Amino acid sequence: MRAYLSRSSFLAISATAALALSACSGGGAIEQAETRTLVLSLNQTEEHPSYVALEQFGDDLYEATDGRLDVEVYPNETLGAQQEVVQLVGDGAIDMAVVSGTQMENISPDFQVLNLPTAFDDIDHQLRVVNDETIVGDLFTSVEDSNHLTVLGGLTQGSRHVYTAEGPIEEPSDLSGMKIRVQESDIHIDMINAMGASATPMSYGEVYTAMQSGVLDGAENNEISYMSQNHNEVAPHVARTNHLVGLDYVVMNTDLLNSLPDEDREIFEQQWQLASEHHADLWITETEKVIAEAEESGTTFNDVDKAAFDQALRPVVEKYLDSPEDRELFDAIRREADQ
Ligand code: GCU
Repeated sequence: MRAYLSRSSFLAISATAALALSACSGGGAIEQAETRTLVLSLNQTEEHPSYVALEQFGDDLYEATDGRLDVEVYPNETLGAQQEVVQLVGDGAIDMAVVSGTQMENISPDFQVLNLPTAFDDIDHQLRVVNDETIVGDLFTSVEDSNHLTVLGGLTQGSRHVYTAEGPIEEPSDLSGMKIRVQESDIHIDMINAMGASATPMSYGEVYTAMQSGVLDGAENNEISYMSQNHNEVAPHVARTNHLVGLDYVVMNTDLLNSLPDEDREIFEQQWQLASEHHADLWITETEKVIAEAEESGTTFNDVDKAAFDQALRPVVEKYLDSPEDRELFDAIRREADQ
């Protein structure tokens, strides 16, 4: 085994040593700059664009703040599944996390509109919306008082598709009787049921084993998650249902964010913006790459009767646009598509 100390462990130790020294000398005698290493929870692997972009965010932040701030990404659900982790960020036990829009929907129904099929035409449209303060500004600060969570911004999940052990799936009736995993979200349960399957909510990390053992007949996700979670090994039929452009959020404990000195907060926000652009670039190249790898591994991709799926999903969209505020937000999102 290689003796290895990551930069942040080293800094954590240096900071502790500096504090100890300062305590020994009666305090205040030694002034040592400390690095505040922000712990960020992620449920993806180290190859995933979110890991790569957020690790880079940490390095760039460290440099831009002369070592005052850093971000350490904990991948693979090591700190817990998103559902637990989002609570821990609110409690201040974890500093930051990437959580799916579906988890934010469980914190506040105001987030539901952005989780609806047909909200976004494509990734470009979605990113224009999440970077438009006039559309999402209030939403992103809406759970600060209630849950101590600030949404820094969005990271795309790309287009989501259904994949199954047996296939091909071409129309809604082909999904009849199939148990398809969904995220823990009312919208996603309704969505997959409307598409003809039987929705089974489950956390991300459990899906592979559930498909392997036959508890599930399939799942739905983007191509990058499909390959990075090795779902191709147990569900080799991907139907290009393109039923939704999914959205992740980077959330941070509000008190922690507010405690940053003005200068560091400004740098933090600038670097975050660069990280989100980096992520969007990585997303495109990684998607192309993994589709080729999936095909090489034996996965078949097929087109579907898109009109039939769209028609099945229409009532679900209507069901969740049940207040004037939701309708207004949805319309603002749709207007951005026509820009
Ligand atoms: C995507 C998304 C994750 C989410 C996962 C899921 O991979 O980026 O945030 O947890 O889908 O289906 O659970």
